[in-house]
Amino acid sequence: MPFDADGHLIAGTISSRLAVPTQITLPPYVGQPAPPPYTGDNTYSEAEIEKIRAAGRIASRAIDAAGAAIRPGVTTDELDRIVHDYVTSHGAYPSTLGYRGYPKSCCTSVNEVICHGIPDDTILRDGDLINIDVTAYLDGFHGDLNRTFRVGEVSEEANLLIERTEEALRRGIKAVAPGREVNVIGRVIETYAKRFGYGVVRDFTGHGVGGAFHTGLIIPHYDAAPLYNDIMKPGMVFTIEPMLTLGTHEWNMWDDNWTVVTRDRSLTAQFEHTIVVREHGAEILTTSD
Ligand code: MF3
Ligand code: CO
Ligand code: CO
Repeated sequence: MPFDADGHLIAGTISSRLAVPTQITLPPYVGQPAPPPYTGDNTYSEAEIEKIRAAGRIASRAIDAAGAAIRPGVTTDELDRIVHDYVTSHGAYPSTLGYRGYPKSCCTSVNEVICHGIPDDTILRDGDLINIDVTAYLDGFHGDLNRTFRVGEVSEEANLLIERTEEALRRGIKAVAPGREVNVIGRVIETYAKRFGYGVVRDFTGHGVGGAFHTGLIIPHYDAAPLYNDIMKPGMVFTIEPMLTLGTHEWNMWDDNWTVVTRDRSLTAQFEHTIVVREHGAEILTTSD
């Protein structure tokens, strides 16, 4: 996705598929059109939670490594290679690679791309925003997170959008408690985002994660009550990953069937963590420490 004369993104050229060392265990969906149906539930034993944390730590450190390489002039494909090499050299599989045919080891979503941007030969420019979303699969479990970065110096409105999107995630995480419906998370996020007139993306959501990349549990980022009334329970694991925009929450899909852009081409930001529900609130499983 290079840029057109108006500075908007257009699809770029995707490089050939990176190899995965043969000793790395592939998730079951690789080479399949879709993942097999997930039969487990969304609550995990302490041993399983430690495995999700181990996968999440590799994903987080891969984002640290790619984030350190962000500067004007770098391509999203170069960032993908850093993620791929980090994840595979730590014995894990980059979960997006071959997921429903997705061709790369992370998502790189620039400026008006809401989510699922495909790394390609796009050269980042001073003032761009870029989200890097990495999921790692290790010992049978996935950990999923993303962060939005600034390329060089960004506009004040872009800077605030990034800060407030991260704050929206923090507030969503703080709303987690056993006995509550999962729709409280989106209520808190939407209430905060609306203070600033931001668009709150509705059609892409948080999700159960762990024994599968997407387990079927949905975590909306808007106030969906009375829908999405699953009750949070200790040991439950899911992502929270709000996408906020400077304009509309409506979107268009590119012809690649992956890249989701704001319909009005307004800037958008996202932050994501995988969390486990504890007696006293959420614990984040996707940190670098
Ligand atoms: N990691 C993304 C999420 O947060 C999913 C990416 S799926 C892909 O759910 F196929 F687009 F990579
Ligand atoms: Co996710
Ligand atoms: Co993700």
